[in-house]
Amino acid sequence: MVLGIESSCDETGAGIVQGGRLLAHVVASSMDEHARFGGVVPEIAARAHLHAFNPVVRRALDEAGLRPGDLDAVAVTTGPGLSGALQVGLAGAKTLAYALGVPLYGVHHLAGHVAADTLEHGPLPDPCVVLIVSGGHTSLLLVRDLVREPILHLGDTLDDAAGECFDKVARVFGLPYPGGPAIDRAARGGDPKAVAFPRPLRAAGGQDAYAFSFSGLKTAAARWAEEHRRRGAVLPVADGAASLQEAVADVLTRKAVAACREYGVKTLVVVGGVAANSRVRDLAQRRCASAGIALRVPSMTLCTDNGAMIAAIGDLLVRSGAEPAPFDVTVDPSAPLAYAALNPVAA
Ligand code: KG4
Ligand code: ZN
Repeated sequence: MVLGIESSCDETGAGIVQGGRLLAHVVASSMDEHARFGGVVPEIAARAHLHAFNPVVRRALDEAGLRPGDLDAVAVTTGPGLSGALQVGLAGAKTLAYALGVPLYGVHHLAGHVAADTLEHGPLPDPCVVLIVSGGHTSLLLVRDLVREPILHLGDTLDDAAGECFDKVARVFGLPYPGGPAIDRAARGGDPKAVAFPRPLRAAGGQDAYAFSFSGLKTAAARWAEEHRRRGAVLPVADGAASLQEAVADVLTRKAVAACREYGVKTLVVVGGVAANSRVRDLAQRRCASAGIALRVPSMTLCTDNGAMIAAIGDLLVRSGAEPAPFDVTVDPSAPLAYAALNPVAA
């Protein structure tokens, strides 16, 4: 019975997993508190985690019908993320683990996103290609045994993450924070062919074949909006949103499917907040179907940040006999993704 704690950004999550089975999944978000600033304010996020930690853990235990003493291990995100936010989650998780006398496991946030899918669709096939698309990261990975083998990066973003591109362009379009869901909603009434936004690195070869770049696309979308404003014209937000979403979905899914083909992999897993995007899901489905690739995407509530995905890694680590974190484990706000377990200690 593993409790997972997530607090790397603006969501306080607690989840409980046993033997690959999801028993509880509770999330409190401080998103509304950041909305008027147009982005996550680290100090506000950290304070919100402090307030939410106990109630969220208690609700998770209630949902699973458990008492704290029933827990066998605690897993917690140790990075990457906002330093203060991570520290609140880690302090809480350490306290619980110490008080209960159970082992603590430090978990890489992005590996958690990958594991989220196992809670609905069972163990990951070995190997699989994973596309991680979140607010801070965009990576194409070759995953073997998620908790035993190193995670191979086929490509990463050279600049902005896909979610960051949505969030920043949404702001320029006058849409509310968080931008990704707002772009998705606005795009429903728009024409994806209305604006010919660039498809960055679409045809790149060599070293950049699976690399991404979204900062030029972000700039192109901002210029397009500014051009309308300069002329005093009404901004066709729906068309802009649909066209932006199309460009992002096109590049992401094209490269992901190409990677599956090149490496002879039969399963693509798409995870992270941007995997909640309707066009990304739809285009991935179509392209995988025509390439004979099985597509796995977690349902919306497991795509965005949550504690269940951290518990899922914890559960895998426990079952693989992994070494728990030392008690002086700390956080690593900018940890690169190499292994699912992340147990940094202060130098
Ligand atoms: O994985 P996540 O919840 O947090 C991070 O680890 O970053 O991802 C958050 C990102 C944000 O950029 C948000 O705008 C984006 O995911 N997002 C979406 C959608 N829902 C969330 N982007 C596009 N379409 C959506 N429906
Ligand atoms: Zn995330």
